[in-house]
Amino acid sequence: MEYSFPHYLLSKQSVDDRALNKDVLRALKISLPQEPLRIIEVGAGIGTMLRRLARWDIVHKAEYVLVDEMAENIDYARAWIPQWAAESSLSVEGSGDSLRVFDSARDVRIRLEQADVFEFIQRNERPADLLIAHAFLDLLQMPESLPKLLSLTHSLAWLTINFDGATTLEPTVDASLDALIERLYHETMDTRPTGGDSRAGRHLFGHLRRAGADILAAGASDWVVHAAGGTYPADEKYFLHFILHFFEESLTGHAELDAAAFANWLAARRAQIESGELVYIAHQMDFLVKRSGEKSV
Ligand SMILES: C[S@@+](CC[C@H](N)C(=O)[O-])C[C@H]1O[C@@H](n2cnc3c(N)ncnc32)[C@H](O)[C@@H]1O
Repeated sequence: MEYSFPHYLLSKQSVDDRALNKDVLRALKISLPQEPLRIIEVGAGIGTMLRRLARWDIVHKAEYVLVDEMAENIDYARAWIPQWAAESSLSVEGSGDSLRVFDSARDVRIRLEQADVFEFIQRNERPADLLIAHAFLDLLQMPESLPKLLSLTHSLAWLTINFDGATTLEPTVDASLDALIERLYHETMDTRPTGGDSRAGRHLFGHLRRAGADILAAGASDWVVHAAGGTYPADEKYFLHFILHFFEESLTGHAELDAAAFANWLAARRAQIESGELVYIAHQMDFLVKRSGEKSV
């Protein structure tokens, strides 16, 4: 199997569509100021959230800045955004890192920024009405990153899909090995040199309060992936294979893990995907917050 990160982000769309907490989303919709909006999305990948907000009829008139450090993602976004816009009967103008997608009711000016988010924060001149960080905050150094990120908004931040300490794979392969692999996998999230927290969701309540943000809404946004009639929906079979690839990449060679037992475990989990048996659940949290003022962290 070929592992492509943009393909993983594409395959994640239907999983995220189901997972996003709809109470938090409702709170977002009623809290948004009048359009046109300025939106900054950090760790935006290939721009799937922008497409979702257009598809879900949430954003009509906006300036939308997408920031991601990975060149492969931004390159993909350059070609993919015009493609889905055209498929949604939107006109497309511009090229490269400045695009405009529009019709008689919608007009979104898009800027693509291939940059490290903290470098982008240094040079951003105008804070947004809405900051979005989707499947991103659990990768960063916390709590010190939060005040910097929140400086990108003068008002709202929608902070979604923050991992929160539970990975479930069913059915059991070997109960004690399953538990060991889950524990070690979470530990790799906690020990990455660039930051990360396997309990980011629950910790954000305190971090956000101390960073001067009022929590307007919060709720679970678990990924729940299972087959129906032996078939996974959309491209979720690829999504599951990519999740196992994350396990393989982070745990291969781990001192606490017998290499042959881990290889057999991966093979068993891959066979469960092929037979449509594997159920995958990841517990996550969404937040809608409003900046209230600076506080010390
Ligand atoms: C799990 S992906 C989520 C992408 C996108 N939000 C989505 O859900 O489709 C995390 C993204 O954060 C980006 N990223 C990680 N560290 C970053 C940093 N310091 N600055 C900017 N982007 C970063 C990665 O390139 C990756 O695309």
